Amino acid sequence: MQVDVSQAASVQRMVQETVAAYGRLDVLVNNAGYGFAATVEETEEADWDRLMAVNLKGVYLGCKYAIPVMRQQGGGVIINTASVVALVGIENRAAYCASKGGVAALTRAMAVDHVRDGIRVNCVAPGTIDSPYLAPIFAASSEPQRLREQLAQRQLMGRMGTPEEVAYAMLYLASDESSFTTGTMLVVDGGMTAR
Ligand SMILES: NC(=O)c1ccc[n+]([C@@H]2O[C@H](COP(=O)([O-])OP(=O)(O)OC[C@H]3O[C@@H](n4cnc5c(N)ncnc54)[C@H](O)[C@@H]3O)[C@@H](O)[C@H]2O)c1
Repeated sequence: MQVDVSQAASVQRMVQETVAAYGRLDVLVNNAGYGFAATVEETEEADWDRLMAVNLKGVYLGCKYAIPVMRQQGGGVIINTASVVALVGIENRAAYCASKGGVAALTRAMAVDHVRDGIRVNCVAPGTIDSPYLAPIFAASSEPQRLREQLAQRQLMGRMGTPEEVAYAMLYLASDESSFTTGTMLVVDGGMTAR
């Protein structure tokens, strides 16, 4: 179903239709997000607000409507997509870094608030992942191949990650194998933040 995660009515409908179709809601993954290149000084107020509405408010809305369903059924799992930029600063992405720091903090706050509801709340922090997210970044570059190599070298492993490598981390957090894990950030970054 098509959903705009920044719109309360749209997210509420997603939760309602999911429960209507499946009878319950076990796992919520708040993954929608985007970035744009700008320092704080260069960031237009409207662009800041729009990014926060998707990257941070979208997480809040997803959880706001999923948590009552999960509580009522005796528990559930929430996984949010943060980023390594919640841990280290990167150049020219001020609003994006702020939004992902917010996702990490909100993850911990919700883990504390809802542990007694049987709801585990965790986030993943991907490094540079070779996904369509990078397409506009390459499109704006005069040397996209060189930029690709530079982005790969940010990881200790010298390559970008794949969407599947992040999905497997989410699969672990969604499963009962992670039953003692809540309020944490699982870093999936090819060693980027190890140095
Ligand atoms: N690619 C990376 O290097 C990287 C690194 C760290 C974190 N992330 C995060 O991973 C998540 C997934 O990104 P990705 O790399 O797969 O990029 P992507 O661009 O392929 O996927 C992002 C998705 O979010 C959707 N989206 C955007 N605004 C939306 C809205 N208002 N409502 C509903 N959906 C919306 C887009 O349609 C798109 O399908 C994002 O939160 C991103 O910030 C990406």
